Amino acid sequence: MKTTPMSWDQWLAERAALRRERGVERTDPVLRDDTMIDLASNDYLGLSRDPRVVAAAVAAAERYGAGAGASRLVTGTLPVHRDLEESLSDLTGWPAALAFSSGYTANLGAVTALAGRGAHILLDAHAHASLHDAARMSRSPYDVFAHNDPADLDARLRRLDGVRVLVAVESIYSVLGDAAPLAELCAVCRAHDALLLVDEAHGIGVAGEGGGLVHALGLAGAPDLVVTATLSKSLGAQGGTVLSAPPMRDHLVNSARTFIFDTGLAPAAAGAATEAARIVAREPELAAAVHERAAVIARECGITAAAGAVQSVPMQGPLEAVAAREELRAAGVLVGCFRPPSVPDGVSRLRVTARADLPLEHVAKAAGLVRSVVDRSAEMSLR
Ligand SMILES: Cc1ncc(COP(=O)(O)O)c(C=O)c1O
Repeated sequence: MKTTPMSWDQWLAERAALRRERGVERTDPVLRDDTMIDLASNDYLGLSRDPRVVAAAVAAAERYGAGAGASRLVTGTLPVHRDLEESLSDLTGWPAALAFSSGYTANLGAVTALAGRGAHILLDAHAHASLHDAARMSRSPYDVFAHNDPADLDARLRRLDGVRVLVAVESIYSVLGDAAPLAELCAVCRAHDALLLVDEAHGIGVAGEGGGLVHALGLAGAPDLVVTATLSKSLGAQGGTVLSAPPMRDHLVNSARTFIFDTGLAPAAAGAATEAARIVAREPELAAAVHERAAVIARECGITAAAGAVQSVPMQGPLEAVAAREELRAAGVLVGCFRPPSVPDGVSRLRVTARADLPLEHVAKAAGLVRSVVDRSAEMSLR
């Protein structure tokens, strides 16, 4: 007898009920207004509203139009893409840069073009969802190694002797805010002839003097390393990039599907990111201001300061995290609220980010408020 599957309406209702029950329901409200102190965004340097960056976006749109009009290999490569790639190279110390339409597509493009048949992928256990998706799409077998653990990576690489291996990590992790031991990971990869891909989404603009952690460690330009990054966090725009040696760029132009089959980055975003990259390269005080504010947040919240802009405050559970976020929102402070499945270690948390453009005293006051809300929540759950 033919069985009838559950109706789509019923299935959607069931999924929604399950999310509510587990306290992991998500919504996308419009929250930002100028009265709020925003410690939730990834606009770490405040460049998305910088008049120079906005003017560059306007100028690029006026000169080249609202969209690139075609994929890069057809007629979508515009002078503004060349300017962008040059400014990213100058900022990060890499000889070649290739722009993508997002950081997500940069990761998908790079990983799938570098892995595939005959290769194996090893991901840090806390790697971003885009790297996991990329590994799945690559059709290579893949595993995770213990977070920030060069010894575990080494042991796994030993077992893959003779196999072409791509290892992917983040430089500064997006949720916990901790830095990767990049020099050690790079040495382990080198010893096994593995290629190391470093996602600098949260490193560019923040680590070192703004050129990213790879650059700060003197590793930029290494032939056995490749960097991916987004243009949507510290650079305040939209888009992504892969930074590499020139032969790798040529390979990606020829094989990265998210480069080949995707319309070129919109001129306004490319113009904005070009100007932002130039500003970051010229003004190392911006990265220093992020670190100063990150230290204030950590001090006020009573946590150990993490490496970059992201400071992570653990909560008892998802419901407590949501309640704390709502209470802070009502008091005019925006913080991120991360719960399973978006937390790599299963611990719900508030994610509080430092912003270079906010006055120190505003940051201190807002972080003090976070602390009092978190402490009250902890007391209530002890009762
Ligand atoms: C580590 C990491 N990689 C990649 C991305 C994706 O970047 P984008 O938002 O530009 O697609 C993000 C942003 O969410 C990220 O945090």
